[in-house]
Amino acid sequence: MNAVSDIIIVGGGIIGLALALELRAHGANVTVLCRDFKEAAAHAAAGMLAPQAEAIPPGAMLDLCLGSRSLYPEWIEKLETITGIGTGYWRCGILAPVYVRLTSPEAPPLPSKEGTWLDKDGIAQFQPGLNSEVIGGWWYPEDAQVDNRALVQALWAAALQLGVNVREGVAVESIEQQHQKITGVSTSLGVLSSEHYVLATGAWSNQLLPVPVYPKKGQMLSVQVPSHQTQLPLQRVLFGEEIYIVPRQDGRIVLGATKEEVGFTPDNTPYGIQKLLAAAIRLYPELQHFPIQEFWWGFRPTTPDEMPILGSSAYDNLTFATGHYRNGILLAPITAKLVADWIWQQKSHPLLSYFHYSRFAGI
Ligand code: GLY
Repeated sequence: MNAVSDIIIVGGGIIGLALALELRAHGANVTVLCRDFKEAAAHAAAGMLAPQAEAIPPGAMLDLCLGSRSLYPEWIEKLETITGIGTGYWRCGILAPVYVRLTSPEAPPLPSKEGTWLDKDGIAQFQPGLNSEVIGGWWYPEDAQVDNRALVQALWAAALQLGVNVREGVAVESIEQQHQKITGVSTSLGVLSSEHYVLATGAWSNQLLPVPVYPKKGQMLSVQVPSHQTQLPLQRVLFGEEIYIVPRQDGRIVLGATKEEVGFTPDNTPYGIQKLLAAAIRLYPELQHFPIQEFWWGFRPTTPDEMPILGSSAYDNLTFATGHYRNGILLAPITAKLVADWIWQQKSHPLLSYFHYSRFAGI
């Protein structure tokens, strides 16, 4: 058996890499095993940092998401300084336009989540070009975005630069256990062992251990602001009904995403793309003329309550960091911090208890 380091992280997506960096900063020797970097959900995301626009209800999940959003500026600055790679982090705010009132005509639609309500005229001035059926919308100035693809490249580069042992193309076939201890991971390179293990394999987690994490497919596409337009027509994310429109500063506009329970069925479908385009064009009609750039899809790691599984497991030396569903990009910094503190210093942040795997006992 090969003892490769103090900690083996199974999974080289955004959570595995962010955690590896945090553990490395504590002084740990860390190995990340990554089957296929391109497969990670983080590549497929839109990069919204949107605890408010996503209308996450008050409670531990919202606290975790807000906490992570507030870690972002410093986390990004460190990463960009280490690697010299720009991540497109942009505190552009998110606008959530509304078509119909959900409550009485006098009251603004719910929920507010401390956003600012803009009426029809207000929103039209704030963001020209919206569909005339939009009756107003919520403005969340603190929600933001990051270019998720650039971010994972930066994390990967930082991990290599800081001495994380990143093994790309290494598939973990099984996790070896004796009593309540993990003794090694069986891989395409043979059995590898360490003191501690982390399961950060996202949508694929229950192929290795019986955790209730399953894939929810999201189809996406991007268009490009036509080259003759010298100014970006969208300066903030639009979070609409059945659609989000995420403008990047380089003129790319990301549209997402479907939510499909089709297992790991790959590919874009006419139905999925048609739904996205119809919703996007309805919300921002000018978009129908923009050149299409790309189509893609990914698999979100979903749990029954749509909250991640973090912290200790039934094994003395294995920790979970998986199941982030729609919020993996947003939750990367706080997951890395809380889980690293738990593994390296046995410091259990009070929030961690809400994300323990045992909440699914009996499922
Ligand atoms: N975070 C948005 C999505 O998963 O579609």
